[in-house]
Amino acid sequence: METTNSIYGAKLPELEAVMNELVDEINAAAQTVKAKTGMNPVEHLKYRIKTEESMREKCRRKGLPETAESALQTIRDAIGLRVVCPFLDDVYAIRDHLAASAQLEIVNEKDYIRSVKPNGYRSLHLIVKKRGYYAEIQLRTISMDTWAALEHQIRYKKNVGDSALIFEELKRCADELAATDVSMQILRAVLNEEGE
Ligand code: GTP
Ligand code: MG
Repeated sequence: METTNSIYGAKLPELEAVMNELVDEINAAAQTVKAKTGMNPVEHLKYRIKTEESMREKCRRKGLPETAESALQTIRDAIGLRVVCPFLDDVYAIRDHLAASAQLEIVNEKDYIRSVKPNGYRSLHLIVKKRGYYAEIQLRTISMDTWAALEHQIRYKKNVGDSALIFEELKRCADELAATDVSMQILRAVLNEEGE
């Protein structure tokens, strides 16, 4: 008898185990960086298994059958992690640790920090594969995270009056925040040199 009608079938515990291993791996990478630089490169880390409802919605949106195969193989963000870093360099330091890990493989990388989306969205997106499961890891600075949260809220708000103006303002904020991220990165580098 079937005990669950979850789209993840019997794989949910495994999915959670893989997610927890990725969390441990990122925390370990953060500790390694901190031991070297004295500064924690991770401000916070969030993670989730995509809910039943949104996974089924995504399958329908993509014209896929609502099966475990679609949810775990075709769609690759059933596991999602978001790593929020104080500085730009921290994003790439964590990325490099993941790239060097023997425990996982980076199967896709989208650098929306270097190739900014037209709306101003910035983040580094990795799709990683571990023990046959996929996960999406989003890495971004605190500024980028603040911006993405606001843009997300606005996007799902209906009746946003003058949307062209709002789009323009959001883009301007994104670019100002990005310029500040670069300035702060340089300041930190200068201060570190002086402290040597
Ligand atoms: P999916 O097929 O839906 O996974 O999209 P995709 O393959 O184009 O993936 P992409 O890497 O572009 O985006 C994946 C995730 O990044 C989204 O589900 C959001 O969480 C986040 N994201 C991407 N673009 C934006 C954006 O413009 N604004 C915000 N707030 N988040 C974004
Ligand atoms: Mg996605």
